[in-house]
Amino acid sequence: MTEAARSILLIGTSRGLGKGLAEVYVKAGWSVLATVRDAKGADLAGAEVAAVDIDKPETVDALHAATEGRSFEVIFIVAGAGVSYAPITQTPVEDSLSLYRTNAISPVLFAERFMDRLAPEGQIVFMTSKMGSIEGNRIGGADAYRASKAALNMLVKSFSVRHAGVTTTLMHPGWVRTDMGGPNAAIDVDTSVAGMIKVLGERAGKGDLAYVDYTGAVLPW
Ligand SMILES: NC(=O)c1ccc[n+]([C@@H]2O[C@H](COP(=O)([O-])OP(=O)(O)OC[C@H]3O[C@@H](n4cnc5c(N)ncnc54)[C@H](OP(=O)(O)O)[C@@H]3O)[C@@H](O)[C@H]2O)c1
Repeated sequence: MTEAARSILLIGTSRGLGKGLAEVYVKAGWSVLATVRDAKGADLAGAEVAAVDIDKPETVDALHAATEGRSFEVIFIVAGAGVSYAPITQTPVEDSLSLYRTNAISPVLFAERFMDRLAPEGQIVFMTSKMGSIEGNRIGGADAYRASKAALNMLVKSFSVRHAGVTTTLMHPGWVRTDMGGPNAAIDVDTSVAGMIKVLGERAGKGDLAYVDYTGAVLPW
């Protein structure tokens, strides 16, 4: 990747991993367009900030119009909604449906809308989770969240069939100390972000689909 070709669109950067990614890409000299739901008071020095709620198509359309003529080497949809550890039987149906929308449908619709903003040889990245691995589910729990990320994985598989040859990455960031990951999580944001950025750099130009974690380990579907 050349110096002139380092431009990234990051979706969901108000806090947690999205904010951490934006900060490190800015420090590394990338041109960063970072989105938050509420642009008022957004604290992302060095990044260009725009407002997007991935569940609100009119905000996605507005960003699409505002980025006419631009392209990004990486488009990374980080935004996602949190975990309830309850089994599906104890989760309000509306909450399960809301997770399915935010974690599975909206990221893929966003990506489809922005494929014409992806640079040639660019990479599209979806923030998934190890908890979306069906084979990796040994202990159950957090059913609605697991199902939403498994659904994301499936929708991204179909996305990659539709867009054969486009480098597409399903990224698990590790279990990270954020609002979502909680204070007992295994790693901090800096460790996860550094790992993810290295892995994405190594995946540039691959032209395939991979389901990997922040260390580069390939995950079972
Ligand atoms: N932390 C972990 O251990 C872990 C593990 C596996 C996967 N992940 C995934 O990593 C991603 C980031 O998680 P995190 O730990 O950084 O969580 P977080 O601190 O809770 O941050 C979630 C981010 O997503 C944004 N968001 C939520 N719904 C949105 C929507 N409809 N439109 C736009 N933005 C929206 C939030 O914006 P607001 O501030 O406006 O709410 C916030 O910026 C998620 O996809 C999550 O599932 C995290």
